[in-house]
Amino acid sequence: MSDKPKIFLTRELPPQTMELLQDQSVLTMNHEDRYLTKAEIMDGMRGVDGLLCLLTDAIDDEILAANPVLKVVANFAVGFNNIDIEAATARKIPVTNTPGVLTETTADMAFALLLDAARRVAEGDRFVRTKAWQGWGPLQFLGSDVSHATLGLVGLGRIGKSMIPRAQGFSMKVLYWNRTRLSPSEEASLQVTYCELDELLQQSDFVSIHVAQNAETRHLLGPREFSLMKPEALLVNTARGPIVDEKAMVTALQSGQIAGAALDVYEQEPLLEPELYEMENVVVAPHLGSGTIGTRTKMGNMAAENCLAACRGQRPPNLVNPQAYD
Ligand code: GLV
Repeated sequence: MSDKPKIFLTRELPPQTMELLQDQSVLTMNHEDRYLTKAEIMDGMRGVDGLLCLLTDAIDDEILAANPVLKVVANFAVGFNNIDIEAATARKIPVTNTPGVLTETTADMAFALLLDAARRVAEGDRFVRTKAWQGWGPLQFLGSDVSHATLGLVGLGRIGKSMIPRAQGFSMKVLYWNRTRLSPSEEASLQVTYCELDELLQQSDFVSIHVAQNAETRHLLGPREFSLMKPEALLVNTARGPIVDEKAMVTALQSGQIAGAALDVYEQEPLLEPELYEMENVVVAPHLGSGTIGTRTKMGNMAAENCLAACRGQRPPNLVNPQAYD
């Protein structure tokens, strides 16, 4: 019998990660290009040492109960709101994520969306493809300037911080709000200004969200917050959909409380609030934040190493619930 750990993987990962897993574990997996149902996950993970799952897999206590010998849940994502951490901790199951490797890539995506919404790139692209374009016009598709505008960062973790040099490359003024404020010397060296959330919303031309999803941040932006924003402001969300009250955002867009939005994440992925499919002033991407070959490979290898370490009885490097070892 092989002494390699048994791992169940819920969907194919980049080739290098697949090689690593095939080499180091006895791997069973979903070979189809779709996500699994709860019943299929429960079925697949019976008796394995490690579960390697995705942000689209909701791992709750019922799933965890399906395998009393499970040694780890390794998430292929930095966010882990898809996993019931309390339930895993109560069962002494370590949970891991993939921090750090996707920081720059996700900030690039946030900035790409910001630029797209400001300069109406996707909207212009759609128009050109209708073949209705009659040539250059002085008043066509006028957008808003990014250079010298004010960017408000809601959350200043790794990805939020990574937005700062990008924004400063465009001579933007950067405001931030975060649960914990930086020290005055850090603020000075990064050249960012702390604001309470309301003030940040009132002052920013672009608001970009970079907080984690949890009970405190759910619907952090709702009707009241949209009413504080500038009518010319654009909202960028590459964090998690439920941080924004999507229905309230639609209302704010329809009533002109805000000018537009550039979104990579949604409350009920893969579904959007129906109006969003039709709105020209909204850029919608299919959750691509970490979506480069290099970054997805690094995430895959990191998730695999986390999974393998815990399966072998070691403390995994990117543990999110150290209490599981108490
Ligand atoms: C992607 O959304 C991630 O959390 O890694």
